[in-house]
This record gives sequence, structure tokens and C-alpha cells, in this order.
Amino acid sequence: MNILHTSFECYPIAKVGGLADVVGALPKYQNELGGNTSVITPFYSNTFIQKSKLETVYTSAIRLADITHVFYVKKIISPDLGFDAYLIYIEGLLDRPNVYNYEDDIERCISFQLAVLDWVSNMDAIPDIIHCHDHHTGLIPFMMSHVYMYEKLQRIPTVLTIHNAQYQGQLSLDKINYLPDFDKEKIGLLDWDNCINPLASGIKCAWQVTSVSTSYMQELQEKANGLENLLKDEQKKCVGILNGIDTKIWDPETDPMIIKNYNSTNVTENRKRNKKWICNYFNLDIDKPLFGFIGRLVGEKGADLLPDIVKEYLTNNETINILILGSGNLETEKRLQSLQKEFSSNYNVFIGYDEKLSHIIYSGVDFLLMPSRVEPCGLNQLYALRYGTIPIVRRTGGLKDTIIDIGENGFGICHNNASVWDVCHAIKRAVTLYDDQKKYREIQQQIMQIDHSWSRSAHQYVTIYETLIQYK
Ligand code: ADP
Ligand code: GLC
Repeated sequence: MNILHTSFECYPIAKVGGLADVVGALPKYQNELGGNTSVITPFYSNTFIQKSKLETVYTSAIRLADITHVFYVKKIISPDLGFDAYLIYIEGLLDRPNVYNYEDDIERCISFQLAVLDWVSNMDAIPDIIHCHDHHTGLIPFMMSHVYMYEKLQRIPTVLTIHNAQYQGQLSLDKINYLPDFDKEKIGLLDWDNCINPLASGIKCAWQVTSVSTSYMQELQEKANGLENLLKDEQKKCVGILNGIDTKIWDPETDPMIIKNYNSTNVTENRKRNKKWICNYFNLDIDKPLFGFIGRLVGEKGADLLPDIVKEYLTNNETINILILGSGNLETEKRLQSLQKEFSSNYNVFIGYDEKLSHIIYSGVDFLLMPSRVEPCGLNQLYALRYGTIPIVRRTGGLKDTIIDIGENGFGICHNNASVWDVCHAIKRAVTLYDDQKKYREIQQQIMQIDHSWSRSAHQYVTIYETLIQYK
């Protein structure tokens, strides 16, 4: 089966968050199941791509409104990725250093999708399945079904995975001329609340819609930034499939990014070396339990609560250390930085994105905080488990589906509300657990053995593809 994933992110080519990790891992596991899986993403002028050997395999042009853009499909020549990876290069649009946050992101997304469809419709062997990820590729299912020039693709099944329904990629209806000529009676399939809404259109038009955990799929039908009724209407074709992790990259025994490798037999001594490195580097006290946070500093992650959590907990109590790695909301960044002076010996923050540092933190902190308001799946808690770090999570979305509280014979600490009080209370429970080193170590052993590899979920996707192909 030939499967093509289309996405704006793919690790290690370009990463902002978990979308990249998923699109960089799922295809490998699908190949192991006998698929022939490829990924297409935009070209970025970043270090990974600059260092890669590229071969141009296709050249053509798209028209966006009245402007013609020549584009190139470049294949990354690398045996290490575990799947075939292709990049769309368009001078001035898809050649930037960063993935998002440009004024013309909408034009970049649409150009990417037009180029993908032009390329696919000219392939000798058209893929059996086109798998789209998030709103950036959400117009592909519509265009495959209703744009005249892609008529050849009408019977190719499409899957849309919603990683995050907060971002929908809306554009005003007057940008309709960005799309090639299509059956105008179908305009309702693009429209949601008087806008062209790529995520909504993907939900309407994809043959199958998935999201990244069962609970998030259920939550979306109650609350989905305006798409809840649509998701209710379309629920027959919607299913939640829990993300896995790439256990080859995220393996404390072989991870080249961490200070000292370890497995479940030497976890206690070796992890201490990683913690020591972190404590030296960030001026923290090695003898206290260390709580980490890694992530985008946005409301969905509960990041705005962090400054008050630090203040509230550390003012009353100096028995723990807190370390934060992240970037995002400027006000949250500033507040977190301003606390550095006040709590200089038991708190620190690194504002920015640093892949290596994130691995070191997973390998050395004692607990990982995830006070998310919304968490479609969450990968951090799964990496934490694999690295023997006990997760402290709010019961929502994928966090609810993957972490069981120690009070329920589980292995994590869970709280119900994204509030300062709830998180501080959870930290107190964590400290009590930490003080009982025997129990702490037992749980650490247990969590390192939990299998969250992609094997099961990759299989679920393949089963969906096989079913869709029957209806082709
Ligand atoms: P999301 O995709 O919503 O950001 P996930 O939990 O699915 O959340 O995935 C986040 C991914 O991004 C993880 O691989 C995490 O380690 C990584 N990450 C987030 N912020 C940073 C950062 N500042 N530096 C390094 N890695 C980060
Ligand atoms: C999104 C979600 C996150 C999920 C990731 C990968 O960015 O916010 O919860 O783990 O996608 O699916």
C-alpha cells in the first residue's frame, strides 16, 4: 500500500511540536507493517535541510490567484529517516527558516497544498491513501473531490488527522480565487461561519477523520472552537487513535543527546548524573526533588499558571526545584524570567526551543508538570514515562487516556483542574511520594516498561486505510 502523509512539520526535518514527532515516526512504523510510506512537507532553510543531500524529482508550477509560482519537489536522500521524504520548494514562499508565524502563512499553506496535488496527479503510481495532518493540509480532501483539474484524484481515499482543533487556518471567502476552478455548488464544503475554514472543510470532505486520543475526540464534540456541531454531525467517520512515540529516538539507553545513558537496571545511579548536570547548569540543589516543564508557553498548556505556581509553592516552601523550558506567550515568558532573581537557588527557566536540552530534562528531572487546559494527546508525558520521570498531569484529552493516578494503583499524579491550587496540591503529593524512595523507585521501574511505541496505533491506521480502499 502506498501512503502519502502531507504535513507542515516532520521530525527531524522541521519541528515546532508534537505534530512533527508524529509525522516523523508513524511512517516508519507503517513501513515496518509492510507499507510504502512517504512524507511531503514544505522546504525550510534550516540546518537539517541545508545539511541534507537533495535531489529534484519534479518541477512544475501552480497559480495562486493570478500569480504563477514555479515549484520543485526535492527528495531527501537519507537512509536514516526510515521513510521517503519530499520537500516542496517555492521561492519566496516555501523557503523560509521557520515553520509558522509569517503574515502570509495562509498563502504558504495553500501553495503547498496546490503543489502537492499537482505533483500527485502527475505521478505514475498515485498513492493509495493521502493522509493529511491539521488545517495546513485540510483543503486537500476538498480539492481532490471537487477541483476539476484534480479529477483524477477523486477516488483516492483521504484521511485527516486533527492534532489540534484550536488552529483552523481560516481565510476570508473573497480568497476563494486562491483555489483552482471547482464545482461552485460545493462551496458549502469550504465554508464555516462565513469563512473558508480548512480544518472544517477537511472534516467535511475527508473520507475518515481521526484525532490523536479517544478522549480528545469525545471532548471535541462538546468543545472544538466552534466546530463541535460539525464534529457531532460527522461523528460516524470520526475516531480517536492514541499517538505512540518513536522508541528508537526516545530511548534513554541509546539517546545520544543525554549526558548519561541508562536503562531500568542502572536508572537510579545514572539518572543522578543527568540531574547533577542540570542542577549545575541551572544552579539548582541536587538534593531536592526537581520538577520540570517543557512546552509551548500558551494557554492550552496551562503555561500562564506557571509563574503563580512557582511563586506560590516556592514562597512557602523551599523543598523543591522547578525548571522550565519553553517559549511562546511574551507576557508569560517575561513573568517567568522575572522570577529568576527572587528564587535564584531553586528555580530557573530557559526561554527558547532546544531539542537537546529537552532530552536532558526528561532524563534528569524527577517529575514533569503538564497542567494543560487542552491536550489532544501530549507526547511529553509519554517521553517522561520512558525516561523514568513521573508525570503530573491534568485529567484532560490524551493525558487522561495515558496516565493513571498513584491513588488508583497507577503511576502518575493527576489533578482535575488547571489551577494553581490543584497543581500545588499535586506537587505536595509528589513530594510525599519522593520522600518514600522505595515506592518512587518501584513506580519508576514500572513506567519505564510501559509500551507506548507506535506499533499498535500504526496498525489501527493501516486497518482504516484498508477499509477505505475497499470503498474506492
Ligand atoms: P504540542 O505539539 O501541543 O506542542 P506535544 O506534547 O504533542 O505538544 O509535543 C511537544 C513536543 O515538542 C515534544 O517533543 C516536546 O519535547 C517538544 N518541545 C516543546 N517545547 C520545546 C522546547 N522549548 N524545546 C525543545 N523541545 C520542545
Ligand atoms: C498537537 C497537540 C498535542 C499532540 C500533538 C501530536 O500539537 O497539541 O497534544 O500530542 O499535536 O499529535
